[in-house]
Amino acid sequence: MIELPKLPFAKDALEPFISAETIEYHYGKHHTAYVNKLNELIKDTEYEDMSLSSIIRSSDGAIFNNSAQVFNHTFYWKSLSASKSAPSGKLLAKINNDFGSLEVLKEEFIKAGTTLFGSGWVWLVREPKGQLAVKKTENAHNPLGSHQIPLFVCDVWEHAYYIDYRNLRPKYLEEFWNHINWDFATKAFDKTDNDIFIGTEPCNDIHDPFCQVLDELQNQDRVTS
Ligand SMILES: [Fe+2]
Repeated sequence: MIELPKLPFAKDALEPFISAETIEYHYGKHHTAYVNKLNELIKDTEYEDMSLSSIIRSSDGAIFNNSAQVFNHTFYWKSLSASKSAPSGKLLAKINNDFGSLEVLKEEFIKAGTTLFGSGWVWLVREPKGQLAVKKTENAHNPLGSHQIPLFVCDVWEHAYYIDYRNLRPKYLEEFWNHINWDFATKAFDKTDNDIFIGTEPCNDIHDPFCQVLDELQNQDRVTS
């Protein structure tokens, strides 16, 4: 049974970047529907007792689509912050090393989101060998299948921005950049800045440390009922 995680902020906390109306639909309807559909699909199957990351890495079709969308949305809410912040310490040093500067990363990220055709997601990820990279994925796809650790993500499905920005996706991406939760990104970075994730061959065991760390990040602040 997969639970809908609690929204990590009040519905109107991100205004005017994202309106309460958008959150009501995006979280209350879209994200909720993916959780409900997934639970319907995995009932009495081999997936029923698996963690969310394990389901994503071992399924396809409707179960993959719904489980990945549950993960992606939870990761998206955690990637957002009402207040403006900036990376620091080891993460900032790594960004400077791998991109040249934070400004270059911003340009790459916004370009990736603007040029993604149709619906999808833009991620800052850590490659299996440690390198940071910007990745775009279509529809429900996410970096988990490529053994990449996501640090933050922007939802560029139209339902994420159409109420507030209409067709102006680049403007939404610019505003997203000002509302990244760098504390969360730093947590994901720090948890994976070790030999288990860097410089070793990733394995496909559904109970591997990769799934564990992602499930841990996902389950913070989970609603218990
Ligand atoms: Fe979405």
